[in-house]
Amino acid sequence: MMIETARLILRAFQDADIPEFQRIYADPVVMEHMNGPKTPDVARISVERKAAKWQSQGYGFWCVEDKASGTAIGHCGLDFLDPLGEVECGYLLDRPFWGRGLATEMVRATLEWGFSQKNFETIIAIARPENIASMRVMENAGMTRRGEVIVWERTFFRYAINRDGANVGGMGLAAGCPA
Ligand SMILES: CC(C)(COP(=O)(O)OP(=O)(O)OC[C@H]1O[C@@H](n2cnc3c(N)ncnc32)[C@H](O)[C@@H]1OP(=O)(O)O)[C@@H](O)C(=O)NCCC(=O)NCCS
Repeated sequence: MMIETARLILRAFQDADIPEFQRIYADPVVMEHMNGPKTPDVARISVERKAAKWQSQGYGFWCVEDKASGTAIGHCGLDFLDPLGEVECGYLLDRPFWGRGLATEMVRATLEWGFSQKNFETIIAIARPENIASMRVMENAGMTRRGEVIVWERTFFRYAINRDGANVGGMGLAAGCPA
């Protein structure tokens, strides 16, 4: 299962991606609001868990590839957030790729996929209150702030979008891409 947007490919993780994610997840700036940089072992386990979720729950996170270069530049996708009992959209990009609207592009495509292919009623995203860029991404993707939640003993702003409110069909998927 993959998604193609104007500038990105969202595809399954492969073992060959692990070194790239060990590098990205070790960057203290990228991981500032994500509980800090990860060791190589923790990064590898994190990628393996993301890949395994597709088998266990039928959706999960994709490896995000820059279409122009074929490089793995981040992750994006959906997961079941146990502490809240809701489907969450998560996203992260390698630093050189920030500030080009790429996160907004991949989050829009992810939300559209979740509503159209998985029929979720609501998709949420959470961000630490100081993660302004992440909140802008959520707003740009059509999500609205709906309260504060405490997850993993930390406060997050909760954003949500409903299926009814989603512009399903026009949120950035390239025509003809496989579902
Ligand atoms: C959050 C993240 C994915 C954003 O990626 P991106 O490709 O730069 O996002 P976009 O370009 O689509 O949009 C970023 C928006 O935030 C704004 N922004 C970026 N950095 C900002 C900052 N430090 N302060 C205020 N606004 C900021 C941009 O201006 C843009 O808003 P606009 O479109 O209204 O101008 C990226 O910064 C990242 O990977 N961060 C680390 C991982 C992370 O925090 N993930 C989210 C966890 S909740």
